[in-house]
Amino acid sequence: MSAGLTQAAYIIAALFFILSLAGLSKQESARAGNYYGIAGMTIALLATVFGPESEGISWILLAMVIGGSIGVHYAKKVEMTEMPELVAVLHSFVGMAAVLVGYNSFITPPVYTGEFAHTEHLIHLVEVFLGVFIGAVTFTGSIVAFGKLRGLISSSSLNLPHKHKLNLAAILVSIALMVSFVQSDGSYFALILMTFIAFAFGAHLVASIGGADMPVVVSMLNSYSGWAAAAAGFMLANDLLIVTGALVGSSGAILSYIMCKAMNRSFISVIAGGFGQVVVVSSEEEEGEYKSISAQEVADMLKDSRSVIITPGYGMAVAQAQYPVHELTEKLRAKGIDVRFGIHPVAGRLPGHMNVLLAEARVPYDVVLEMDEINDDFSKTDTVLVIGANDTVNPAALDDPNSPIAGMPVLEVWNAKNVIVFKRSMNTGYAGVQNPLFFKENTSMLFGDAKESVEAISKAI
Ligand code: TAP
Repeated sequence: MSAGLTQAAYIIAALFFILSLAGLSKQESARAGNYYGIAGMTIALLATVFGPESEGISWILLAMVIGGSIGVHYAKKVEMTEMPELVAVLHSFVGMAAVLVGYNSFITPPVYTGEFAHTEHLIHLVEVFLGVFIGAVTFTGSIVAFGKLRGLISSSSLNLPHKHKLNLAAILVSIALMVSFVQSDGSYFALILMTFIAFAFGAHLVASIGGADMPVVVSMLNSYSGWAAAAAGFMLANDLLIVTGALVGSSGAILSYIMCKAMNRSFISVIAGGFGQVVVVSSEEEEGEYKSISAQEVADMLKDSRSVIITPGYGMAVAQAQYPVHELTEKLRAKGIDVRFGIHPVAGRLPGHMNVLLAEARVPYDVVLEMDEINDDFSKTDTVLVIGANDTVNPAALDDPNSPIAGMPVLEVWNAKNVIVFKRSMNTGYAGVQNPLFFKENTSMLFGDAKESVEAISKAI
């Protein structure tokens, strides 16, 4: 394939990536968005593999077959609830790839000729240094995020003494090492030392971020992985990689910003490893008496209700309760009861998690409302079914300034006449904080697996 054709293919692929992002921004066009992305990536791969700068095509194809098979195997096996973990692992690969490309490009640098050869060489050294730095931070940060999401590492924030000073020191020392790296015309010592500092910095940055802020971390790492890819694009002088990396980097950053706004968190504070947050010790003790209720009693209560709101959370995903939830919704609607859904922006474990599950079960879009659209309606609602949600309906976020989730907007379910909480025990949710909702006068607990509970109610109705 000639160089001109390769460039043309790159431009077409970049257009497909932009169309893909545009498609993914709406539920109705998300499927088309995925297809655009697949088309763009196929063109990009073909143009790169068969482009003028590629050598050893059989090796590349062999690596692609091995890597592709592993990817297909795991992507098929992964449960919806494990998706953020998969995404975190994939980000770590991008980070490591940027580190390896950086070292490779340093060991076998491009040959510059002409008047500006020396300047171009210095710019290349800066690209190598920055690429390795961003890649190393992304690599270890993503591994720690994976550990936290999978429960291998505690989800609460790590609070080393002087943690912010440590982060600042890591950045300052890395800058000093970059100056020395460029001045010495590429010292191995500076590059290797910075790589270790960046590994430690990435791990510490993510470990310092506590429970409920993890969604933002995952999308931040998505953004970092984009910048790491863009840096690799500069080192390889590959325009498409630069464009794609910048698209991923900036869309990840915008998503993180939107999520921070939804959770009333400071963007800078979250990306700086919890900088400026007050460290509080959460209480996991139970606080008062709670009432439990049977499925039959809930069925009777629902039959007497005129308006019902369902607020699903992570537990609905674990129990795969979306299908019986849809069936129950249809039964109630057939009786003339107004049933709607209230979706918190960070319910579940990935952005849009609940919307995807409800769409999968064919719940109509028009009864699925965002938190802001429905929060004022709870006071006019007879019954709220909190199905496997916990942190997203915790009144402590509004009432208790010392709570780790203080300030996060929540679904104000307690304003309804009756609240039924579906869960298996009195255990805490993702953020590890106790929920005063469970002990309120108008709340009853329906213990058991959410799917079984919803099926039992449906049967009783
Ligand atoms: P959580 O606060 O995580 O609570 C889920 C509840 O579901 C748990 O209390 C659990 O209680 C219950 N549960 C689990 N399995 C169940 C089953 N089979 N049947 C019935 N109940 C079950 O959920 P949430 O309200 O959706 O909040 C999400 C949390 O995750 C937030 O803190 C958010 O910041 C964080 N997070 C979100 C994301 C994104 S992007 N959405 C990403 C990472 C983290 P039992 O164990 O007692 O059953």
